[in-house]
Amino acid sequence: MDSSNTLPAAQGNGPNCMRAQALAALAATAWPEKLAQVRAIADSAKLDRERVFAPMDGLPGRPPLPELVAPAQVRHRSMATLEGRAALLHALAHIEFNAVNLALDIIWRFAGMPEAFYRDWLRVAREEAYHFDLLRQRLAALGYAYGDFPAHNGLWDMAERTRDDLLARLALVPRTLEARGLDASPMIRNKLAGAGDADSAAIVDIILRDEIGHVAIGNHWYREQCAQAGREPVACYAELARLYGAPRLRGPFNLEARRAAGFNDAELAALQAD
Ligand SMILES: [Fe+2]
Ligand SMILES: [Fe+2]
Repeated sequence: MDSSNTLPAAQGNGPNCMRAQALAALAATAWPEKLAQVRAIADSAKLDRERVFAPMDGLPGRPPLPELVAPAQVRHRSMATLEGRAALLHALAHIEFNAVNLALDIIWRFAGMPEAFYRDWLRVAREEAYHFDLLRQRLAALGYAYGDFPAHNGLWDMAERTRDDLLARLALVPRTLEARGLDASPMIRNKLAGAGDADSAAIVDIILRDEIGHVAIGNHWYREQCAQAGREPVACYAELARLYGAPRLRGPFNLEARRAAGFNDAELAALQAD
């Protein structure tokens, strides 16, 4: 695949630097190309932890469809119809597409972290690509494709807001938006299962299992960064959530999944006290 014409920032360090490859995959616009590029990043890829990349336009690369609309314009459809279930699966696929981009973004954007940080987010990027592909295939089986419904861009908006602040990125993307996915999963799963769509429900189960791991990775690096900055994690989170306009989280919370993802009693208490 020749993507060199779209990747000026990835040149000059050879094709093997894992962070440069992550930036290249982030810039890829078509989903097959993006997924192929994520999968092509090898575990053995060399890693330049210190490189600072020049900012580039056009991030994240995305296809012309789906049309991006304000969250309020995304229609909620009945699960009783095939179209309604396809719209729900499409919304999930769009979240996963954004999640691929978010995992790639943290790899190239933030320099000077330990090797394990980049390896962790590469694993996340691969799993998000797998989730997207599962949903895309399920949509295809129902007669739909990614791009058939409008979508909103809330996940990427938070990436934009936190692009200069790794602590805020960790607090507000994995620990807020991905963690919210843990809360939403059981209800979505039950809706699909209740509509008789066991195949789609099974995909949501796989995603929940993996997302616990992603939030755990977010928690790990958030705590590490808090410790380095001498910040207290619970108070620091409240401050960052206010500063960056995090969405207010409402229950019911998936406390079991959140505990498995490393939230402690103080954090779960703060969540429920809000
Ligand atoms: Fe995912
Ligand atoms: Fe995730």
